[in-house]
Amino acid sequence: MGNVILKTTGIKRAFDTPAGKFWALKGIDLEIEEGRFVILKGRSGSGKTTLMNILNSLDDPTEGDVFVEGVNLRSLSERERENLRRRKMGFVFQSVSLIPSLNAFQNVEFSMRMAGMKINKETNERVTECLKLVGLGNRMNHMSAEMSGGEQQRVAIARALSHRPKIIFADEPTAELDSSMAARVTAILKEMTRREGVTVLMTTHDVGLMGAADQVIELESGERINV
Ligand SMILES: Nc1ncnc2c1ncn2[C@@H]1O[C@H](COP(=O)(O)OP(=O)(O)O)[C@@H](O)[C@H]1O
Ligand SMILES: [Mg+2]
Repeated sequence: MGNVILKTTGIKRAFDTPAGKFWALKGIDLEIEEGRFVILKGRSGSGKTTLMNILNSLDDPTEGDVFVEGVNLRSLSERERENLRRRKMGFVFQSVSLIPSLNAFQNVEFSMRMAGMKINKETNERVTECLKLVGLGNRMNHMSAEMSGGEQQRVAIARALSHRPKIIFADEPTAELDSSMAARVTAILKEMTRREGVTVLMTTHDVGLMGAADQVIELESGERINV
């Protein structure tokens, strides 16, 4: 068994609604090993985004604990959590959020600056390496606004990877892509776990993508159903 990089015990999350408390998560226990490609599966509304945002420390559970590399997120200050996100985590979203006025290379480079890295020859090589990893070695100077949705999402993956995070969180990264590009993006995310040793947690409700996963965690109405 490999190192456990993410672990939760008894995660519950309630939202206050006009109709009273709504329990979006009802007690989630999970363990994810380092370097795995993990799919968080479930219908719309099952709690995937809520759980992902608790795992990446953007949100707090109402009850339960999250451990990242053995560290309980409750023991960290807000500033320490921000540092954890910047240095150890990478993010890919459903809607691509590239800066349209920058080309692919510049978009990735910009995110390395945001991660607090000094731009130099080494970081430039890393940008090139990441764009090659996602199959865009020949598109580095293209403006992101001129790229297809699938290409933009691959730039977003290169960007999430560039600062060598331990974990990439990808929330429905394929939802706006056609099925062949969705499969390609999923395959690239998996390949990153093999080539770079990064752990990837991706949410989707697309059953056609499950075959790529090392581990599937399935939610239904805020509960795990495939334990
Ligand atoms: N801020 C919020 N306030 C109230 N209800 C919320 C809030 N965020 C999510 N929910 C509810 O929690 C449930 C799970 O949402 P979500 O985690 O976004 O599901 P998924 O990502 O699987 O589609 C849904 O019923 C949603 O309406
Ligand atoms: Mg969601």
